[in-house]
Amino acid sequence: MLKNDLLLKALRKEKVSRPPVWMMRQAGRYLPQYIELRKKYDFFTRVQTPELACEITLQPVDIIGVDAAIIFSDILVIPQAMGMTVLMEEGKGPLLPKVIASQNDIDQLNIDVEGNLQYMFNALSLTKREINNRVPLIGFAGAPFTLLCYMVEGKGSKGFEKAKAFCFTQSALAHSLLSKITAATIVYLKAQLKAGADVVQIFDSWSGMLSPDDFDQFAGKYLLQIAEAVAPHGPVILFPKGSASALESLSKNTAVSGIGIDWNMRPEKARLETQGRVTLQGNFDPIRLLMPIPELKKEVHKMIKAFGAQAYIANLGHGIVPHIPVDHAKAFVDAVKEYQE
Ligand code: CP3
Repeated sequence: MLKNDLLLKALRKEKVSRPPVWMMRQAGRYLPQYIELRKKYDFFTRVQTPELACEITLQPVDIIGVDAAIIFSDILVIPQAMGMTVLMEEGKGPLLPKVIASQNDIDQLNIDVEGNLQYMFNALSLTKREINNRVPLIGFAGAPFTLLCYMVEGKGSKGFEKAKAFCFTQSALAHSLLSKITAATIVYLKAQLKAGADVVQIFDSWSGMLSPDDFDQFAGKYLLQIAEAVAPHGPVILFPKGSASALESLSKNTAVSGIGIDWNMRPEKARLETQGRVTLQGNFDPIRLLMPIPELKKEVHKMIKAFGAQAYIANLGHGIVPHIPVDHAKAFVDAVKEYQE
């Protein structure tokens, strides 16, 4: 039995004494203990060695006291397991030297990814054991549209014009690729829940680059296919960053337990559009963590008040950035724990 199941209770919309709190990208980046490990092992060694992934996953639970752990990995392990070469250049971000450009490239992709991702399931089982029921463990995957962005563009980009052009000018190919990623992701997330994850989150970091209609066609459709297939096995949180216009329709699907929003949307508006159908997560601007601690805590309390403390998961509106001081990250967590209605 979990000692702290606030996150799972909030996702079931059960009454909680205070909202649970965790931070997107909480494992790694700003933590000195992580930076030490980064000096010794390259990125994919850290991801693919269960003992290292477990150690990194538990760091924010021990150091800043979050109410959930998120397994240390990356969204790009799916393109990698499907057969693409993925390089992580220190300080530069991901690089996929051979991109997807044709039906033949898509046909080469393997959707039977379970065997190649055994390290992830081992990392989850080990972490589930080591976490010793202190807090729930979150598994995750990248959303099909966000993965398509990297698979077609080959690297990070401001506007992912090449990936969007692929969707709009070769839409049959785009849908064939999105369907294949969807199939692989369903297998992957179900296996994560079986291996020890208590809940899964799907990161659609770039869906906000799509118009509302394009979101429905290229992002939302596949997010919901995944949610529907995975929900019988565990709760699903969607994070379609920048896609506020999709909130209402996504929240109407009963396979979705939670939706993360970023700081572009007022919490009150998000509540109006979702009418209590889903738990909301977010939406603190990560750069606000740099404020002096007393002001930072006031802002956190303001945010909780605006969302309401029930059916709510306190979080950032996107991942934490590397230069946040650890005591400020901890102050964010403490402020949520100190919240009183
Ligand atoms: O949340 C966590 O703490 C778990 C670990 C995690 C990582 N990546 C580790 C990582 C998670 C959930 C991700 C998700 C991810 N990866 C996303 C979606 C979330 C988001 O922030 O939008 C995306 C778009 C990626 C792709 C990716 N991986 C990029 C663009 C980069 C380079 C820039 C960056 O974010 O630092 C990575 C590398 C990466 N993945 C790092 C970490 C800790 C940094 C590299 C390092 O520390 O050596």
